[in-house]
Amino acid sequence: MAENIVWHEHKITREQRNELCGHKSCVLWYTGLSGSGKSTVANAVDELLHKRGVHTYVLDGDNVRHGLNGDLGFSDKERVENIRRVGEVSKLFVDAGIIVTTAFISPFRADRKLARKLFPEGEFVEVFIDTPLDVCESRDPKGLYKKARAGKIPHFTGIDSAYEEPEAAEVRVETDGRSVIDCAHQIVAYLSDNGYLA
Ligand code: PPS
Repeated sequence: MAENIVWHEHKITREQRNELCGHKSCVLWYTGLSGSGKSTVANAVDELLHKRGVHTYVLDGDNVRHGLNGDLGFSDKERVENIRRVGEVSKLFVDAGIIVTTAFISPFRADRKLARKLFPEGEFVEVFIDTPLDVCESRDPKGLYKKARAGKIPHFTGIDSAYEEPEAAEVRVETDGRSVIDCAHQIVAYLSDNGYLA
């Protein structure tokens, strides 16, 4: 950290922001393979929450890599930095009173653990979009698995780059054979049952 930097406390507290919004804030930290359905389910959840008057925002891997993280590729080191920045940004959103969703592969357990550590208990909700590799590969919505198998994308998650499954995610969503809306309702039910929503 640079020297001579002093932390400033905000006049408006998190509690005041949560009270104004009428709900708690947290990060819904999605993790799962490419093509597992992270963005699709995240956006369906976002719509359901928005309709209920919840203040939300979605940070999506592909989109964030167009801007803030446009300088990062897919080596292990760059993925670590990608997730570190997303953790810090999502902390700002939570501080602003928002239920923020992050939809990144976030393949490494240690990085997800570091992101979790940025938050007090209960503000980091890990959502494992549990879709087996063969199902993701058969969906192949962007044709990336085909390219990866042909050796045209190096370090592709699940092919020649690791994906470490969560061991104790707050929510585990199996998508195979289920509708998007059914998966989305499972996540909203978790928030509702655990006192995040009004
Ligand atoms: S990570 O691992 O969390 O840093 O990845 P993320 O920021 O979520 O970006 C994943 C999306 O980038 C595309 N893409 C790749 N994914 C995995 N491995 C490699 N090598 C790769 N190259 C490009 C891909 O579209 C991912 O999007 P999703 O939505 O996960 O399919």
